[in-house]
Amino acid sequence: MRKIVVIGAGYVGLVTGACFAQKGNFVIIVEKDENKVKSLLNGIVPFYEPGLNQLVTKSIRENNIIFVNNIFQAIKQNPQVIFSCVGTPSLPDGSADLSAVWTVSREVGKLIDDYILFINKSTVPVGTAKKVKKIIKEELDLRGLSFDFDVASNPEFLKEGDALNDFLMPDRVVIGVESKKAEQILSDLYKPFLKNQDQLLFMNSESAELTKYASNSMLATRISFMNQLALFADKVGADIEQVKLGMAKDKRIGVSFLNAGIGYGGSCFPKDVKALIHMGKEHNHNMSLIKSVDVVNDNQRDWFVNQIFNYYKDEISKKTIGIWGLAFKPETDDIRCAPSIDVIENLLCEDAKVVVYDPVASENIKKIFKDTVVFVNRALDVLRESDCLVILTEWKEFLKHKPNDFKILKDKVVFDGRNCFKPIDMKNNGIKYFTVGRNSVCEFSNDFCIGFKSGFDNKKLKKIN
Ligand SMILES: NC(=O)c1ccc[n+]([C@@H]2O[C@H](COP(=O)([O-])OP(=O)(O)OC[C@H]3O[C@@H](n4cnc5c(N)ncnc54)[C@H](O)[C@@H]3O)[C@@H](O)[C@H]2O)c1
Repeated sequence: MRKIVVIGAGYVGLVTGACFAQKGNFVIIVEKDENKVKSLLNGIVPFYEPGLNQLVTKSIRENNIIFVNNIFQAIKQNPQVIFSCVGTPSLPDGSADLSAVWTVSREVGKLIDDYILFINKSTVPVGTAKKVKKIIKEELDLRGLSFDFDVASNPEFLKEGDALNDFLMPDRVVIGVESKKAEQILSDLYKPFLKNQDQLLFMNSESAELTKYASNSMLATRISFMNQLALFADKVGADIEQVKLGMAKDKRIGVSFLNAGIGYGGSCFPKDVKALIHMGKEHNHNMSLIKSVDVVNDNQRDWFVNQIFNYYKDEISKKTIGIWGLAFKPETDDIRCAPSIDVIENLLCEDAKVVVYDPVASENIKKIFKDTVVFVNRALDVLRESDCLVILTEWKEFLKHKPNDFKILKDKVVFDGRNCFKPIDMKNNGIKYFTVGRNSVCEFSNDFCIGFKSGFDNKKLKKIN
């Protein structure tokens, strides 16, 4: 049994801690937010992640996990390993804000008295592991201490909504290390999670750090690629869903991350794409492809909201717009960079009334929009109260609805940012159904949606996140 410290009880820290505890390690989780610690001590996970609450409660019951609110209390327990899982959000220039990483490194340097393996699990720019090492060494020098310690880079690839499965059964574990000792410790720690040793990929810290940005940027690229093609498909009478199926049968391409929609959001893709562009700038390397991915994603949101404005023109202020889905994707309550924030903000700017429903993310959206938006408790209530429906998250409970259900909407119009329904079924039920790249089936082309014929000025929309 190893003693492991995990710093940060967010999505990554809590999943990391609970999964290592599940494998018989003793885990001390450090979280600076006292409210989060209080909630966790009562066995309540402060965000929604399927299965996590049960796993954390089980570990608390079995005395495999404890929660503290400062690093001092954690280091007192003499851990051999520290996982740093603090947030690295975007700064206004697109670079990653590493202030939490530097703070944690300095605190660790001020407190350790013996060998430690410090592991960056946060997504951090290339070169961060080396800088962390330097900071810890500076602090040891200041205290007149000299002993070995290691810094490793072990980026996390879990996806919110399926985080436990991703952590417990990873496709691969990427580790940037410098010493054999660190390699051995990490090998032992991850062994219980792996089907075979080939899944453990050791490399230098720079390669590990870049692998994380490369992976997220590749997935974001697939999404932007399909979104750009989807708008083209509408212009030429193609159906992007059919195109996707045709592409996906090619084993070299596969089916993942090829859904056209309103674009990617969340706490990772937008910030990691921007951070990679920024890293390129710092090294005088033009990341032209990734820059385009970012631009296409931004434009996709503008295009989507402009469809609604183009349809209603000056009538928009008299309309009640219903929204299904506020989380940036299903099975999470995370609203960081969620399309819903931009869409709501822009509808409110045009004085539309907005009625929303999400199975788990409403409380988080309430913190931003307060009572400027009407929150209802059921998907059906949105339909009853609205002129049209806007779908922003493809929750399973929405997919169960039948085209007939939308007849209750006063204007019988649905703007679907996630292509949840068959256009032909909607059309046969008298629903005007705006899709992303499937409009040829409903016989209105993208020209209509983007306003060339309607006369509405397309505008760059207001962004608040
Ligand atoms: N969320 C994801 O799906 C995901 C997936 C893979 C990688 N990542 C990366 O992992 C990192 C963490 O992401 P997250 O979504 O878990 O972030 P988060 O914001 O949900 O959690 C970070 C936590 O760290 C705490 N914290 C910050 N400084 C601290 C300190 N000095 N001491 C103790 N606690 C401190 C914060 O209070 C917060 O609770 C980021 O770099 C992110 O890019 C996230």
